[in-house]
Amino acid sequence: MAGSFALNTGASIPSVGLGTWQIKPEVVGDTIYAAVKAGYRHIDCAPAYSNETEVGLALKKLFEDGVAKREELFITSKLWSGNHAPEDVPEAIDTTLKDLQLDYLDLFLIHGPIRIRKGTTHIPENLIPTDIPATWGAMEKLYDSGKARAIGVSNFTCKKMEDLLAVARVPPAVNQVECHLIWQQAKLRELCQSRGVHLSAHSPLGEASVLRNPIVAAVAEKLQKTPAQVALRWDLQMGQSVLPRSGNEGRIKENFDILIVPQCTAMRNRLAWL
Ligand code: A2P
Repeated sequence: MAGSFALNTGASIPSVGLGTWQIKPEVVGDTIYAAVKAGYRHIDCAPAYSNETEVGLALKKLFEDGVAKREELFITSKLWSGNHAPEDVPEAIDTTLKDLQLDYLDLFLIHGPIRIRKGTTHIPENLIPTDIPATWGAMEKLYDSGKARAIGVSNFTCKKMEDLLAVARVPPAVNQVECHLIWQQAKLRELCQSRGVHLSAHSPLGEASVLRNPIVAAVAEKLQKTPAQVALRWDLQMGQSVLPRSGNEGRIKENFDILIVPQCTAMRNRLAWL
């Protein structure tokens, strides 16, 4: 199983990345440091996670300590829903770059096909109509400038993807969505694969719900792997990179240790029933 997948930009995205959603600012630095030491090369961030400053401090320390070089890491961040106005997009990436202490991102995603008034919170009263073609135009300029080496979207359905692909000058490189054995995203995967868009799986453990599935548990027992490893490996074999989230060093290592499991036809056949 490859350690990375090719993007339509010509770059590669690591197969396994660390999700940082809901990892508290006071622990996210140690978590990232441990993950990169364990071999992770992709960190998935967002200003909405309220921990990018601490992620930036950890990255700086990793570079200073010689654990990894900038060019060896793949760093993703996202455009928040309050910053969709084309004139707000450059400022949004500049804030993220400053917080992360970086001068470019490997991937910058529209966080979701949802827009709220600038500076407001994510409640229904603050929703306003999206203008994805206009927002995407501003994302394309970031790609042209080199501040974002790839651009993409997150949480886009088939319809939203088709609408975007119809107007994009620079096609999205990635659609990052929740994707796992219980929510397999078959139609979206087919669409993305046919249009050269890499599907990346956030919440690949279904926020741990997949781990309680009895078939996953049975397969794990048979293969002498953990349920999390079986769940993550399914995504990889379907062609999706995974962004498991954990604040625990042992589980961080466990989730990364999935690249050398031998192919097993019986496992794939059984999982196909889910
Ligand atoms: P923890 O941070 O205590 O490890 P997802 O990535 O689908 O959002 O799931 C994240 C949730 O799954 C977190 O609650 C995390 O808890 C838990 N988790 C992550 N990795 C594992 C694992 N290998 N085994 C069990 N639970 C895990």
